[in-house]
Amino acid sequence: MPSSAISRDSKEAVTFRGEGALSRLDVVLPKYKNILLFNDANGFQPCGAADYFQQVETELKGRIRIQYVPYEGKALPIEDIEAKYREVKSNTDVDVIIAVGGGTIIDLVKIISIAYSNNCEKAEEVLTDKELKNRLDLIFIPTTAGTGSEATSFAVVYKDKIKFSVDNQSLLPDTIVLDPLLLKSLPVPVLNSTVLDALAQGIESTWAKGATNESREYSKQAISLILDNIDKENSLNRLEKLQLASHFAGKAINISKTTLPHSISYPMTSHFDVPHGIAVFLTLPKVAELNYYTNEHTLQPGVQLSDIKESFSLLFSFFQVDTIDQLVEKLHEVIVKLKFKTRLRDYGIKRKDLSFLAAHALTKGRSDNNPRNVDSNTILKILEEIY
Ligand SMILES: [Fe+2]
Repeated sequence: MPSSAISRDSKEAVTFRGEGALSRLDVVLPKYKNILLFNDANGFQPCGAADYFQQVETELKGRIRIQYVPYEGKALPIEDIEAKYREVKSNTDVDVIIAVGGGTIIDLVKIISIAYSNNCEKAEEVLTDKELKNRLDLIFIPTTAGTGSEATSFAVVYKDKIKFSVDNQSLLPDTIVLDPLLLKSLPVPVLNSTVLDALAQGIESTWAKGATNESREYSKQAISLILDNIDKENSLNRLEKLQLASHFAGKAINISKTTLPHSISYPMTSHFDVPHGIAVFLTLPKVAELNYYTNEHTLQPGVQLSDIKESFSLLFSFFQVDTIDQLVEKLHEVIVKLKFKTRLRDYGIKRKDLSFLAAHALTKGRSDNNPRNVDSNTILKILEEIY
């Protein structure tokens, strides 16, 4: 286990970007001896990263050791994290953890890095002890264009199907690789659902109670890159732009955090397996309307009506529309364009499940970051409208 306590707060990651950026790790990897490499079991080989790391091992033979840890789950239950933690716990003196995959793999690494750094008996301790910090070097290599988790200090985990968020500055990585070649083998529906997540994150970040000028600048970049590329034929250039959009959306929510659509999405994903990006986007148009029509009685404490007005005037300009109806129409067009269905019943959710979903949809730190104050009755109404 690592012994030195290094302060890792407020550090800036080195980011390698563009086609072939993965090979720029050639200059980084030789400084490590013992590597844990968590990867998406289904995507690691097809995306080309497996070959790259095998080649590195051959070239640095005897000087570097890599333990590969594949994972194929979608949402991240704590039991799965415990199982993966047990696989790596006895590997002593690890000096870096690499994540190659989507948000789930990166979030898995975030939890395990803290557990490993503190020699925790169980990874679950990370969910309750806020004092624990990561002390390992981290390299994040996203292979989707969605969560932007490589740019955030938090991880989403489920315990008994309830969402937990671990938020710790020590989880920001040392190195990020944004290589569009890694996205080439991604199945189109997976790519599209991750794009929905990135777009939702950009939109929610714009109206979030926690928004700042800086986060809104990142949101603007993310939304513009997605809207400019959504209709284009898939190409390396398009993938590069979508990957960058996802990264900017991650940077935006790292400052502002997400809001109500994310909050409502968590029980949809944990109980009904709705992919994260789709689950978030299903309620997004309705929440946009709801937030737009906020009055002084429904404002979230700490938010002014002028803040909401300002955030919608920004969103209208990003989407090049003049009214809330046009914005909602555009959001519907996006989900249809990406070939997803728009009603809850299309995803195996029954009418009798709606009150259960509404009762589990208020997540601390997310629903109370929404500019409009909402209760579970309001959420139930939204769910009924999109059922
Ligand atoms: Fe998300």
